Amino acid sequence: MYILGIESTCDETAASVVKDGKTILSNVIASQADLHEKYGGVYPEVASRRHIETIFPVIESALLESGISAKEIGGVAVARGPGLMGPLIVGLSAAKGLSMGWGVPLIGVNHVEAHLYAAMMDIQEPQFPALGVVLSGGHTFLLKISSLGSYEMIGTTVDDALGETFDKVARILGLGYPGGPLVELLAKKGDPKKFPLKPGVVRASPWNFSFSGLKTAVLLASKSLNTEEKADLAASFQETALSHVCKKACEAATHFGCKEMYLGGGVTMNKRLSALFHEKAPVPVHFAGKALCLDNAAMIAALGFHKLKETPKGHTMDLEPLPRIPLG
Ligand code: KG4
Ligand code: ZN
Repeated sequence: MYILGIESTCDETAASVVKDGKTILSNVIASQADLHEKYGGVYPEVASRRHIETIFPVIESALLESGISAKEIGGVAVARGPGLMGPLIVGLSAAKGLSMGWGVPLIGVNHVEAHLYAAMMDIQEPQFPALGVVLSGGHTFLLKISSLGSYEMIGTTVDDALGETFDKVARILGLGYPGGPLVELLAKKGDPKKFPLKPGVVRASPWNFSFSGLKTAVLLASKSLNTEEKADLAASFQETALSHVCKKACEAATHFGCKEMYLGGGVTMNKRLSALFHEKAPVPVHFAGKALCLDNAAMIAALGFHKLKETPKGHTMDLEPLPRIPLG
């Protein structure tokens, strides 16, 4: 069965056709990064307007690239949240229109669950319980996965998400947006031991994360630095943040008896992060493929296929966008 996936939770408009939840036939992503660069983050109203302009051209490209005609599509999966309300409405409206017009089921999926599923879709038999780690611009989650669809929240951030922190540090250091890849690039030239930064600790709930103190420490240390020192600061920040996340995730995997770890979300593009996990993880660790780390619609279509197997009729037309939909 061919599923069309649609993703518009934040600043990527994406569409994809996936066969049987596994084979990606197209994965089209229109990034709005250029549009939001001058704000140093996503401007929701501007994002919504761009989604409206790009959503149908992106869907048309995804269909064309897949070689599958609209008549062959067996369902339309869409990210219903979490995300920004305006952008979610655009994706959901497009999905509803197509589902109604083509007479196929509508499947609303959770964007965070899809990030995790991106790391699982190539695994024949995932071993449960597993630890899910979602690290992106909007989300920082440690989850216990008992089975596909059954999640228990272990920890999250009490302030900024990890990717958001990378973006803010990039802005402090005068780099562009999105900041994560630029901080990683600069960090390669720096000494991670130069600045003694400390990760945030949440005493009341130790599995939670806090990154705003670390960001402020970077801000204070960033005054009047030369180019070399800036690279040292980027490297020190990256090492502090990533080794903290890795250490906590590894402790959680052991504490909650997890047999494997699955990682997804934009920050998992970071090579230092994957090196740390491969080096330290107490159990086998799986990352989403490179094309599926950042926001994309293939992960939405693939997860949608599995949801449709559970509920063959899909959702009704009154499916609402849920900007803060929980997972677990
Ligand atoms: O998953 P994603 O596309 O969007 C959300 O669901 O939020 O993640 C985007 C985030 C941005 O904050 C970006 O700076 C971060 O992922 N990111 C990185 C890297 N590549 C992207 N962070 C650190 N290192 C990277 N190489
Ligand atoms: Zn995402």
